[in-house]
This record gives sequence, structure tokens and C-alpha cells, in this order.
Amino acid sequence: MRAALGLVWSPPEQDALRAAVSGKTVLITGASRGIGAAAARRLADAGAHVLLVARTVGDLEKCSAEIMESGGTAKVYPADLADRGAVSDLAAQITAEYGAVDVVVSNAGKSIRRSVAQSYDRSQDFTRTIDVNYLGPVQLLLGLLPAMRARQSGHLVNVSSISADLPAPYFAAYTAAKGAFEAWLRSVAPELRADGVATTSIHFPLVHTAMSAPTRFYRYLPGMTADEAADAVCRAVTYRPRLMSPWWSRFGGVVASTAQPVNDTVLTAYYRATRRWSPAAPSPGASPGAPSPGASPGAPSP
Ligand SMILES: NC(=O)c1ccc[n+]([C@@H]2O[C@H](COP(=O)([O-])OP(=O)(O)OC[C@H]3O[C@@H](n4cnc5c(N)ncnc54)[C@H](OP(=O)(O)O)[C@@H]3O)[C@@H](O)[C@H]2O)c1
Repeated sequence: MRAALGLVWSPPEQDALRAAVSGKTVLITGASRGIGAAAARRLADAGAHVLLVARTVGDLEKCSAEIMESGGTAKVYPADLADRGAVSDLAAQITAEYGAVDVVVSNAGKSIRRSVAQSYDRSQDFTRTIDVNYLGPVQLLLGLLPAMRARQSGHLVNVSSISADLPAPYFAAYTAAKGAFEAWLRSVAPELRADGVATTSIHFPLVHTAMSAPTRFYRYLPGMTADEAADAVCRAVTYRPRLMSPWWSRFGGVVASTAQPVNDTVLTAYYRATRRWSPAAPSPGASPGAPSPGASPGAPSP
């Protein structure tokens, strides 16, 4: 039922997943918690050697220890994707140690829920989201792709959001950064496919993780668990579709682009209806530099 409603993807057959990843090297960014950690556990359980990337060493080591206790193999690579030098060193280290990795799951992400009115004095929101969601992941891939293309194999999985189909109020910084990476991947996908490297984008709806937790009303909305999202990542790695997006999100995207005035009317009505109680958005006339007490720096686009 939830699958029919586009709220969850069914996991791949375990045999198919094992055939796809057993003995393969899978690098996962954002593997310290949430979707990335859950996907790392599932992939390692199916026989992949997982490379765990994020900033929080303790959480990466915890994930790695859990995997090893279950008989899998994992290695921790602490790195901040917003740090150009660290990303460059990471790509060089991985290439020196493994040559070409088989799968890269580009999952690390930063979300900010804040209206543009609350962002007038916060250009750093846009810098941070573009660093983590776009520039860092691209730089990492620029370092990893030469070996993958030379070997004529590999797969990139982009963990994205339905905001790629349906940009919505309050999420300008997040949506623009996720959209930039999505556009980059769509542009390079034919070049990579020509050299044997496949690409997949997953447009997740709400997933109940630390990222969505700061927005209280999301707790009452239907969403996926991190384990269900990890199943979707495993499905992507197994069957390599170009795009996984809920049917209603794709449909909404088509409506939004073909009936722009309808889309604008609906979203403006939504913003007007929600801004009065949304702490992230001030009422008109509020002072531009006012603090944004309820802004949810961790919240994902719905
Ligand atoms: N949750 C949702 O509703 C939802 C919906 C659609 C799409 N998504 C996407 O799903 C992906 C995973 O999100 P999640 O829900 O699992 O969130 P999460 O629990 O907050 O996990 C985010 C991961 O990204 C890592 N990360 C953040 N900043 C980083 C940086 N500068 N350098 C390296 N790693 C960094 C974090 O690790 P450290 O803090 O240890 O660095 C963490 O492992 C994101 O790309 C998000 O945009 C989520």
C-alpha cells in the first residue's frame, strides 16, 4: 500500500543485491548516521566492502564496528565535504588504496529550512549548503571518476530529494544546492555512460532522520524510516535505474512546469497559510535582521 502511494520502494531481492555488491568497494558519504549509515550496514551485510565518509569520527567508527561485528568489512574515512583540501586528499587516498571504487553513494547532505525573509543577512546558509550538497560531492567525484572511467565500470548514486521535482517555499538554499548537483549529474551522465559508469538519482520524500527532526510537524507526516530509505539505496545499487522518484513527485513536477500559474498559486497560498505560525518565516514588515529562532537548520525539503 505504501509502495503504491509512492512512500516507499520495495527492497531488492537479497540474492540480486548480493550479486551486485559482493566483493565490491562501495564508498558512502554521510555514513555516520541516518540514511547513509543504514545503507552502509545493508550493503556490507550483502558482502560489499564499505568506505564510510563523514565528519564525526566516533559515529563512523560505531557504524564500522557494527558492520564488522556482523561479519562485514568497512573502513572509516573522516572528511568534511566543505573542506576543499580534505576532499582532494580523500579522493587521492581512496584512489591510491583501491584504484577504482565500484559504487559511490553521494549521500551526505545539509538542509536548511528558512524563508528568504529570514535569510537577508545569512548568505552563509547558501555557502554552506552549496559546499556540502554540490561543490564537495562534485570535487570528490572529479577525483574518483578518472579511475572508474579508465576501468570502464562503476555506478554513482545521488541521494537527492523530491525538491528536485517540486521546489517549495522555505527551502531555497537546500533546493538550489541539491538541484545544482542533480543538474551536474544529468549533464555528465551521458559522458559517463559512454565509459561504462552508470548514474542513479533518488528523489526521496520525507525520511524520519536527524535531518527532518527539527521540524516538529514533520513528525506527524507519513515518511520513510532510515532503513526503508536504505532499502531504496540498495535497490538503486542493484538495478541501476537512472531515476527513482515517487510517481506523485514526478507528476507534480510535470504540472509545475506545464501549468506554472497553477503551481505558483498553490505554493503562494501554502506560504501565506503557513508563515503566520511558521517560526522560520516572519510576517511582512518584520525587521530584516531579526533572528530566526525557529529556523530549522537540519530540516529537509518536504
Ligand atoms: N531526511 C529526509 O527527509 C530527506 C529527504 C530527502 C532527501 N534527503 C537526503 O538524504 C541524505 C541523507 O540525509 P539524512 O536524512 O540521513 O540526514 P542526516 O541523518 O542528517 O545525515 C546527514 C549525513 O551527512 C553528513 N554530513 C553533513 N555535513 C557533512 C560535511 N560537511 N561533510 C561530510 N559529511 C557531512 C553527516 O555526517 P557528519 O555530521 O558526521 O559529518 C551525516 O552522516 C541527504 O543528502 C539529504 O539531503 C533526506
